[in-house]
Parts: sequence; structure tokens; C-alpha cells
Amino acid sequence: VMYIVLPGIGGGTVGGGVYDLLTRRVSSPLATVSKICVRDLTKPRSFTVDPQTCTMTDKIDDVLNDDTLNCVVEVMGGTGIAKDVVLRALGKGKHVVTANKALIAEHLPEIQAAILSAPGGPSFAYEAAVCGAIPIINTLQTCYEGDVVTSVMGICNGTTNFMLCKMEGGEDYGEVLKEAQDLGFAEADPTADVEGHDVRAKISILAKLAYGVTVPISAIPTKGISSVTSVDFEYAKSMGCTIKLIGTAARTSEHGEHDGPLSVYVAPKMVPITHVMGGIGGAGNAVAVTSENMGMAAYTGPGAGRYPTANSIVADVMRIARGNQGEAFPKSAELELSTDYESAFYI
Ligand code: NDP
Ligand code: HSE
Repeated sequence: VMYIVLPGIGGGTVGGGVYDLLTRRVSSPLATVSKICVRDLTKPRSFTVDPQTCTMTDKIDDVLNDDTLNCVVEVMGGTGIAKDVVLRALGKGKHVVTANKALIAEHLPEIQAAILSAPGGPSFAYEAAVCGAIPIINTLQTCYEGDVVTSVMGICNGTTNFMLCKMEGGEDYGEVLKEAQDLGFAEADPTADVEGHDVRAKISILAKLAYGVTVPISAIPTKGISSVTSVDFEYAKSMGCTIKLIGTAARTSEHGEHDGPLSVYVAPKMVPITHVMGGIGGAGNAVAVTSENMGMAAYTGPGAGRYPTANSIVADVMRIARGNQGEAFPKSAELELSTDYESAFYI
């Protein structure tokens, strides 16, 4: 058992939730939040910090240079300063928990190298980075060791699922995007959500976990939902379908063997309303993993928002505190990438 003294870098939607859960809902004394770093100390917060036990700072070095802190929760977002924070924290032997899928997808090789060379073998955990509350990272890390995954396909973005559900009912694109932002689902720049870049980062992480393959985001054809119209929904309905933004990472198959190149892409697709993914409402997410031993197993749950996401971070922190956090990434493998995706508009 390890006593984690934890600073949060970021005190926004997710960071505030992590503080709330660790101070109010978690009865275990294994983890204590003693510092929170934000950009603007004068900004009103939607959570209340106990000044007896936790200090707020606007200087990242206050956290990184404090040797009493052994686990950094990076929930500031972005791929610039956040990258520096994560690499420096690992370099000092601090455990890192992050929700930052863009950072992992864009800088995976550097993060892996930093984990391997870090003093004391700190853990790197990122359950919150893909599909909010759904424990898909842990599932792929631990439940498929004796199996062979042939396809991973999912609704991995809460903002766009929320928007598509409302747009199907006739609501206006701009208004529903604003609503998703107000509810704390969207990225700081929601272009990442609506143009599919967020799903692209997530499917690249899922491909790494399922196949061991590092797929650079530049190699993932990506189409978002900004061109989906009411006519598309009418057409989908006439076929017993709805429209979902789907990330796919699947081995292609010529004779049912699923041993061909790996096809990784993001696109809006027709999904039968009877399919598990057809019934996902609000900011829900779903991942369908098909494997040789299990066939198709589907994992569903809330995909974004303060407490669903904070829950995954707290789970990572507690696994680290108990010494149960395993390897962050599987051994590297290589697979040819396929370009066989262009006609795949129907799941
Ligand atoms: P917010 O914008 O709500 O919070 C970001 C926080 O980081 C703010 O407290 C901000 O400070 C702080 N911050 C930003 N830049 C700096 C800086 N340079 N120095 C110090 N602090 C800084 O974002 P979210 O909480 O929504 O998202 C955070 C991360 O979690 C992102 O990587 C996002 O992709 C990921 N994520 C978000 C989910 C969600 O549902 N919102 C779900 C899953 C993952 P200040 O408050 O002073 O501006
Ligand atoms: N903006 C993201 C979403 C947050 O809407 O899914 C969760 O990763």
C-alpha cells in the first residue's frame, strides 16, 4: 500500500471532479490532494477547496519541484505545456494519471520512452482518456491477454453523440453544440469533437492496446459530423438506422480470417437502431470489441462529463496507490495499414 500525495494540474470540469471525489466520496486515506495548479487563481470555481489541506497555485513548478508529491494528475489538456508536465513528472519518478488523449496519441513514443527511463519505475495511467467512465483501457490491458482481437469499433465521443441524438429530433447544430459545451462535455476547442479529431486520438490509443501497433494520427482518415444534415437522418431512418460517429480499428478479412492489414479510420456511419451502438443516447459511449475467444463484447456507459471522467481518474489513482497498476502499453507490434475504408458507411 502506498500513500499517494497528489497534485492536480488543472482544476476545471475534470480536475474539480477529481478533487470532489477524493475529498468527499473516497473514504480511503490512500490518496490526498495537497496542491491544485490552475491558470487563473482569481477565477470562481465550481468546487470548494479546503485551505487547511490543499493549496492552489498558478505555477506548475510548485508542483513538479515538490518532492513530497508522488503522483501528478494532469487534467489541463492540450499537447504543449501538458506534454512538458507529463514528461518532467515522469522524469522525476512521479506517477502520472492523465485524461489527455490528444497528448497520448500525438506523443506516444516520447511518453513510452519517458516511462521506460524514469527513475523508480513510476506508473502511467490514462483510463479517463478514452470513453470517460467506461473502463475500456483497463479491459484491453487485462482481459484479452489470451485472446486475439479482430476489431474494435466505437462511439468514443460524448459531445457528438449528444449532438447527433438531438439533431435527429430536429434540433439545430449550433444550439446543441453550445448545450454540450455548457454541460462540460466538449473539448476547449470543440472543433476536435465535431471534426472527429478527438475520436481519432482515442481510436489510435485503442488500436495500440488491441494490436500493439502505434498508428500515427496523420495516418488515420477522419471525417466528423459537421456535414451531417436532416436529410441524412431521414435516409438513415428509412433503413431502420440512425447516424453515429464511429472510430474503427479492424483487421481486414478476405476469407473470414481477419488476418489482413489494419484499417483505422473515423467516420459518421449508419447504425441499425437494433445494434447496441444504435441505442446509445446523450453523451453515452460504446465500444464493441470482437475477438477470437469472446466473439463480440460491448462496453457501454457515460463518455464525458465531470464525475464520469473523474471516476476513471480516481480508479487509476487508487490502483496505483495499491500497487496494482500494470504496464501502460503492450509490447510493440507491426501491422500493415489498410486503405480499405472508403465505402464503409454502414457498420
Ligand atoms: P477545463 O478547460 O475545464 O479545465 C482545464 C484546467 O486546466 C483549468 O482549471 C485550467 O485553469 C487549467 N490549465 C490550463 N492551462 C493551464 C496552465 N498552463 N497552467 C496551469 N493550469 C492550466 O478542461 P476539462 O477538465 O474539460 O478537460 C481536461 C482534460 O480532460 C483534457 O485533456 C480533456 O480532453 C480531458 N477530458 C475531458 C472530459 C470532459 O468530459 N470534460 C472527458 C475526458 C477527458 P483555469 O481554470 O484557471 O483556466
Ligand atoms: N470532448 C470529449 C467528448 C470528452 O465529448 O467525448 C471526453 O473524452
